Amino acid sequence: MSPQPEGIRGATIVGTGMYVPERVLTNRELETMVDTSDEWIVERTGIRERRISAPTQASSDLALIAARRALETAGVEPEQVDQIIIATTTPDRYLPSCACTVQSKLGATRAAAYDMFAACTGFIYGLSIARGAIGTGVADTVLLIGVEQLSRIVDYTDRNTCVLFGDGAGAAVIRPCAPDEGILSVSIHSDGSLGELLEVPAGGSRRPASHETVDRHEHFIRMKGKELFRVAVRGMEDSLRRALDIAGVRAEELELVIPHQANQRIIDATRERLGMPAERVIMNIDRYGNTSSASIPITLDEVVREGRLKPGDSVGFVAFGGGITWGASVARWTMPVPAGAPARAATVASATTTVPRS
Ligand code: ACO
Repeated sequence: MSPQPEGIRGATIVGTGMYVPERVLTNRELETMVDTSDEWIVERTGIRERRISAPTQASSDLALIAARRALETAGVEPEQVDQIIIATTTPDRYLPSCACTVQSKLGATRAAAYDMFAACTGFIYGLSIARGAIGTGVADTVLLIGVEQLSRIVDYTDRNTCVLFGDGAGAAVIRPCAPDEGILSVSIHSDGSLGELLEVPAGGSRRPASHETVDRHEHFIRMKGKELFRVAVRGMEDSLRRALDIAGVRAEELELVIPHQANQRIIDATRERLGMPAERVIMNIDRYGNTSSASIPITLDEVVREGRLKPGDSVGFVAFGGGITWGASVARWTMPVPAGAPARAATVASATTTVPRS
């Protein structure tokens, strides 16, 4: 958590990609499944709809599409990838890893591949690992993917959780750069004593799957939302401030902040504490809900393709999630604006959400 030491290479994002499944689950549809309303969901969370994977799709299928798009944007062939890191809570299977499955489907024959488990903060943890591997010369090209099929572990009889989550994948290709560019800082944290605020009680070594665990719905997410809300706001503010300090960047110098899309009100509260204007904090939770580790790379790919980041811009990433984990990163952007992206000024309004802010 210190600034990049002397003699260490920088690491920067050179390509992004995302994929969300076609099936849209609207708030109105959820009204027919649990005792909820479109008004309640929009007002308390900012979510209007979320994407749900087809029964035939596994996480690796979503990840593969996002990864191919990121590699294409970067102009990198699969054989050039040294490491594939997948941040996920919902791998296809526990063995083999989701990353090994993607490696095979992608034809990334030279890559080491592994999953990383930090819930919604996974993409930030992944940036930290990728930066370390590139900085020390362990890898030249890292493919970092956040992918989730939260619909597979959500209890659609529990209104406290089923309205929040969605499925999707986002990916970034990371390569060396000058030490004063790219990922300038990462600040990551955990507090395992608060683990029970967000958990899937069974299915691991503590409570292996049994008829009883299935009958008790213990393979689904359980959440203490109010408690999480409080620690989320504090953790996101603190870690972004710390990442800014390490990077030597002031909050007002950030062109954009891309937060984990957990809840519109959590982001608004964090943004207000940081004194940032709403138009610089990117939201798409209205369209995708909370996609956990996929939410930051999905949002990043959208802003990149909309031409909202140009070389030299400072951008912040910030997240919190189960574990609990939280963290932030500050980067000096190096990717050129993609050909055909709309002019930046014209996209500011369209790239930010229009849900009411309470
Ligand atoms: N529809 C209607 N009513 C609901 C619903 C629903 N979907 N869900 C809960 N309620 C009810 C509650 O039962 C409660 O009723 P009661 O007062 O009769 O008991 C009432 O609404 C208020 O519930 P609260 O929990 O106080 O509502 P709150 O304003 O805190 O909003 C929410 C709940 C949206 C879950 C909020 O606490 C939150 O977003 N917390 C953080 C959750 C989060 O981000 N989780 C993921 C983090 S980690 C990750 O991203 C994987």
